[in-house]
Amino acid sequence: MQVLETIAALRTARRALRGTVGLVPTMGYLHRGHIALVEQAARENDQVIVTIFVNPTQFGANEDFSRYPRDPEHDLELLRAANVSLLFMPFVPEMYPTGFQTAIEVNGVSQGLEGERRPGHFRGVATVVGKLFNLTQPDRAYFGQKDAQQVAVIRRMTVDLAFPLEIMVGQTIREADGLAMSSRNMYLSPAERAAASVLYRALSAAQSQYQSGLYDADKLRQIMRTVLATEPLAEVDYVSAADADTLQEIEDVSMRPMLLSMAVRIGRTRLIDNVRLDAARSVEQSQEKQDNYRADE
Ligand code: PAJ
Repeated sequence: MQVLETIAALRTARRALRGTVGLVPTMGYLHRGHIALVEQAARENDQVIVTIFVNPTQFGANEDFSRYPRDPEHDLELLRAANVSLLFMPFVPEMYPTGFQTAIEVNGVSQGLEGERRPGHFRGVATVVGKLFNLTQPDRAYFGQKDAQQVAVIRRMTVDLAFPLEIMVGQTIREADGLAMSSRNMYLSPAERAAASVLYRALSAAQSQYQSGLYDADKLRQIMRTVLATEPLAEVDYVSAADADTLQEIEDVSMRPMLLSMAVRIGRTRLIDNVRLDAARSVEQSQEKQDNYRADE
């Protein structure tokens, strides 16, 4: 694995790679969710490029950019054990040189849910991911279902700007109690960590009602809120039942694929999670299908 810190070195190393390339963009502090994406990329491509860059432009003024966890040595160890050709770890001025004035703004799918609560977040994500696409020229790029709206924004950008690559989505990797893996879980105290499983319990309760035939979005939101209310340390930011493609809230009953999602504060830590439901198929099947989502579906 070659470790590169500059754009010039990355370009040279990229030109020397033969065969298809899978890209896995990350902000580091890697966990099994990231590694699952790297392994999927290694199975589906001849070469894998991983990037680690804590992107300042996607953090709001009151968010955790300065204290975002970092552990490059452990990250390197994990990636060396995986099948990675190039690791790109630039410093901020390499990605945002003095005088940087350009941004990619995706409208529509960026606007609700996370985009509404984190103004500018998806502009930062789209800009850095677009730049990473240009720098690494991948055939496929891998993202986690954990960040469902991020996937929707990046898909839209890829189509709209005609990036010549396929967006691939990996399923959400969870801890034993259902908590979705996240670099931010390290902020949780032991009591908060125990409480954090309530997000998955809330999603699972709604999912199982859906599987029994409850397609009423309001009732599904209510089920999630009821479960979340049982946890005194949980403070709900939002609970959503949206169309899985447009991410628009569903007014009443829908047989179309749905995304149930939520953002919940546990102490000072804001956690997000989601599950995709599809009445047309069994939920397990639809989850599997989506995890291996291809553009031709
Ligand atoms: P980061 O939070 O480091 O996540 C990197 C990738 O790993 C994202 O595609 C994310 O959805 C995926 N991921 C995180 N937790 C996961 C889990 N539990 N299961 C499966 N996949 C998971 O997302 C970002 O970084 C940034 O916004 C980035 C795309 C790198 C742009 O800066």
